[in-house]
Amino acid sequence: MIRFEQVTKRYPDGTTAVDGLSFEVAEGELVTLVGPSGCGKTTTMMMVNRLIEPTSGRILVNGEDVATVDPVLLRRRIGYVIQQVGLFPHRTVLDNTATVPTLVGWKKAKARARAAELLDLVGLDPKTYGPRYPEQLSGGQRQRVGVARALAADPPVLLMDEPFGAVDPVVREQLQDEFLRMQEAVRKTVLLVTHDIEEAVRLGDRIAVYGQGRIEQFDTPGAVLGTPATPYVAEFVGADRGLKRLSVTEIEADDLEQPPIARLDEPAAQAAAWLDAEGARWAVVLDAAGDLHGWVGVDELAAGGTVGDLAHRMNSWVPVGAPLKQAFGVMLQHDAGWVAVLEGPRFLGVLTPAKLHEALRRSVDADARGVSRGQVDFDSVADA
Ligand SMILES: Nc1ncnc2c1ncn2[C@@H]1O[C@H](COP(=O)(O)OP(=O)(O)OP(=O)(O)O)[C@@H](O)[C@H]1O
Ligand SMILES: [Mg+2]
Repeated sequence: MIRFEQVTKRYPDGTTAVDGLSFEVAEGELVTLVGPSGCGKTTTMMMVNRLIEPTSGRILVNGEDVATVDPVLLRRRIGYVIQQVGLFPHRTVLDNTATVPTLVGWKKAKARARAAELLDLVGLDPKTYGPRYPEQLSGGQRQRVGVARALAADPPVLLMDEPFGAVDPVVREQLQDEFLRMQEAVRKTVLLVTHDIEEAVRLGDRIAVYGQGRIEQFDTPGAVLGTPATPYVAEFVGADRGLKRLSVTEIEADDLEQPPIARLDEPAAQAAAWLDAEGARWAVVLDAAGDLHGWVGVDELAAGGTVGDLAHRMNSWVPVGAPLKQAFGVMLQHDAGWVAVLEGPRFLGVLTPAKLHEALRRSVDADARGVSRGQVDFDSVADA
């Protein structure tokens, strides 16, 4: 959808801001550009909508060389959130949001109705905030208006330059979550610039890690964190990249351990006997449908009756597909050595700290080899 082919930008004073850049953003994909200040991120972005012209190379949007498209028309098809938000101070929030629809000739009423819809989408009540002026908003609210404005004409492509940069970490995380939810629904092709690796990892389907004017690595968040391509990338993603990786690695059914299972209606004495024979200290308790009920300790079963009379309800579980970090968090929160993993109500298995570590190691290896995690045998990476 957006394709860079050997793009170089040299400013008149001799600064090479971008050097031989080639990469592609697929339709509906969100790519984050991350790198230190001055590495050429904004320059990269502005060449897409021709606010800056490349010195050499070309950029295609939807198969069309942007150099051949009238810049004004081009910019109407590409939403742009600029680094400092850039709202018009003398226009209301509603009119700011309606800027592009108005420019492209929508009737005023239609443009305003659309703007109100968008404000609502980014979590600002249009009745309250629509009539205000930008200076009457908080930093986070202003950034939301910036996002709403960029989306107003429903452009297929969105360029976002540090869209959540000017707010504190808590608000920032909130805006990121909202944006991800929105992106789920609207599926724009997005190029998003940030200097924050956490943000890049959180938002990006893929990440381009920039050094000076060049891409050092272009890959999924998991791969960038798991197998940094160069020492520069390793340093940039940080020493805690293993920890960061927990939040981008999903729990798969293959990762799970199968503990002993007791049934709710089973006589306690019978369950105790076979658990004892297995050398198990506890069992997961499922109901007749195979849904998770809870757990029971072998010693408790001596009291007799059915397993159901003695079992503890268990409220701590995670869905399959959730990040490993969530499972780890639940284990810590409940001070437990394992956590149940469900698919809908159905019990799939449990994740233990050892299994979690194994999943992480296998996923690193799988990314490095470009295969799925199920194809990696843990023994082959255990002592790597
Ligand atoms: N008009 C210009 N003339 C000369 N050099 C420029 C010009 N605009 C930008 N540069 C230089 O090009 C390089 C890349 O700038 P750019 O704005 O793309 O960086 P950036 O990665 O967006 O940085 P930041 O994170 O600080 O926003 C910098 O060294 C900058 O000083
Ligand atoms: Mg910049």
